Amino acid sequence: MISKASAPGKVILFGEHFVVYGIKAILCAIDKRVTVSSKKIKDKEIRIRSNIGQLIIKPNTALDKIDSVLKPFYYLADKFLSKHNSDEGIEIIVESDIPLGVGLGSSSACCVAGAGSIAKLFEDISKEDILELAIKAEKTIFENTSGADCTVCTYGGIMAYQKNKGFEKIEYKPEFQLVIANSNAVHSTDEVVSKVKKFKKDNEEEFLNLCKMEEKLIEESLSQIKENKIESLGQNMLKNQNYLQTIGVSNKTLEDMIETAKKTSFGAKITGAGGGGCIFALTDKNNLEQTISAFTNSKYECFSVNIDYKGLDTF
Ligand code: MEV
Repeated sequence: MISKASAPGKVILFGEHFVVYGIKAILCAIDKRVTVSSKKIKDKEIRIRSNIGQLIIKPNTALDKIDSVLKPFYYLADKFLSKHNSDEGIEIIVESDIPLGVGLGSSSACCVAGAGSIAKLFEDISKEDILELAIKAEKTIFENTSGADCTVCTYGGIMAYQKNKGFEKIEYKPEFQLVIANSNAVHSTDEVVSKVKKFKKDNEEEFLNLCKMEEKLIEESLSQIKENKIESLGQNMLKNQNYLQTIGVSNKTLEDMIETAKKTSFGAKITGAGGGGCIFALTDKNNLEQTISAFTNSKYECFSVNIDYKGLDTF
């Protein structure tokens, strides 16, 4: 039996980094996916194959002995083999159309699709339990995750997410389109999150103030999404970008890209950890093509995405 699952990537419309400190964030799943297929094998081995390399390893290996971005898959496979006292192994194939390590949720989508695919080889499992497993798997490579990315990759759509409080789906379907431009500079989320932790430690009062401003911006933006006020939403994205610049997660390349996108779109900002990765611009059907064209002769890959309303899919 082959068990397959797929999960979407994401952009963070508002609130990355601040969400790690308990501020609400607004996230949106996108129509680029990771698909994971797994099957039991006779050899007592965990084999993971993906377009970024492979990992072949015996069950019961200590996690701290594994230095690979594929570690979350190992964690999940080992967990189920040991829970079910299995003397078999598992082969896992990972296929992704989400660019890796650039703020589009590739790692969370891998954890969610991996948890769905591997769990269903052994048992029926709810989406809630898959999410819990996916967050645990993600913590093997990024200990301080807020859980926001895995949550939107599991449930899809647009949502407000608050660490330790959960999420609220925004059922309203806004009429905006997102244009993504990729700086091609891969970032380590863990490193950028640690950098923000240092900024907070060195600038407690300023950080607290930024959190308050971000909180206000997010409440306002939630209303704008529901009222389809796309122009104001774009302005708020630019404000959010300023806060991200203040905490040190932006850079000259990303800011130049945002300047380019700003000329034709309603607003633009980084998505995810920053320090590299992608920016995205808010458009509607009238300025979508123009915004993509603005990047045509640049060295940055640029494409539009739609909102994914499906989330995790198992088949
Ligand atoms: C990464 O996509 C988003 C961050 O806020 C980290 C997190 O929420 O875990 C930077």
